[in-house]
Amino acid sequence: MVKAYPTVSEDYLKAVDKAKRKLRGLIAEKNCAPLMLRLGWHSAGTFDVSTKTGGPFGTMKNPAEQAHGANAGLDIAVRLLEPIKEQFPTLSYADFYQLAGVVAVEVTGGPDIPFHPGRQDKPEPPPEGRLPDATQGSDHLRQVFSTQMGLSDQDIVALSGAHTLGRCHKDRSGFEGAWTSNPLIFDNSYFKELLSGEKEGLLQLPSDKALLSDPSFRPLVEKYAADEDAFFADYAEAHLKLSELGFAEA
Ligand code: HEM
Repeated sequence: MVKAYPTVSEDYLKAVDKAKRKLRGLIAEKNCAPLMLRLGWHSAGTFDVSTKTGGPFGTMKNPAEQAHGANAGLDIAVRLLEPIKEQFPTLSYADFYQLAGVVAVEVTGGPDIPFHPGRQDKPEPPPEGRLPDATQGSDHLRQVFSTQMGLSDQDIVALSGAHTLGRCHKDRSGFEGAWTSNPLIFDNSYFKELLSGEKEGLLQLPSDKALLSDPSFRPLVEKYAADEDAFFADYAEAHLKLSELGFAEA
């Protein structure tokens, strides 16, 4: 897909740059990179390619979307971000939430993800039920990521590597625990842990384990576990696509 990015003003670009600095500070202060990455992902992952609805268009600021079951805990992210957002009234929430996701990966040692501004906020949240269910397997992942969002098998595996950051909270998702022993560092340890099997104190969701049993996913898990540069390159490409679903399409 050739993208036709909108032109934004010099002042808008300056606001993006300044907001980026503020986000780095907030994430360092609150140790909230994982939550910010999940916010960016859950904002974008509602995109439906057939109806062109949902996607990274700032609707997560609406309490109705925060109340979707899959978004439990993201009200905290929205609240943490609000004092910064207030300093940049010209920025769209759409751009701001995606910027937070990109900065979260950057400041934890992950790859640089290109950021193109100019998303416009949509007035209405998407319907509930578009984000993946952690208790399901490969067919479901392809239904959500490929059929609904328009992403590839490679994108599914690379993006799943985001679980190198953060953890599950019993009171949010019903699951508890981190995927790796260094959940504030973005590296390829998610794939190494996945291949090395269940371990005391760490967690693997059914949807994570599905990557091991699928003949198309598994070779990518092995590749990313062995080659962090390959993971970073594919992750950056997949995250860029995710953050621009439905945006700047020619
Ligand atoms: C493949 C399908 C996916 C499923 C089923 C899934 C499911 C989950 C679940 C159940 C949690 C725990 C939430 C909580 O209890 O706080 C979680 C956390 C998280 N997810 Fe995913 N996820 C998926 C894909 C992704 C993707 C594509 C990204 C980003 C690109 C991502 C980033 C995160 C992060 C960073 C956290 C940690 C949040 C925190 O520590 O507060 N996930 N995910």
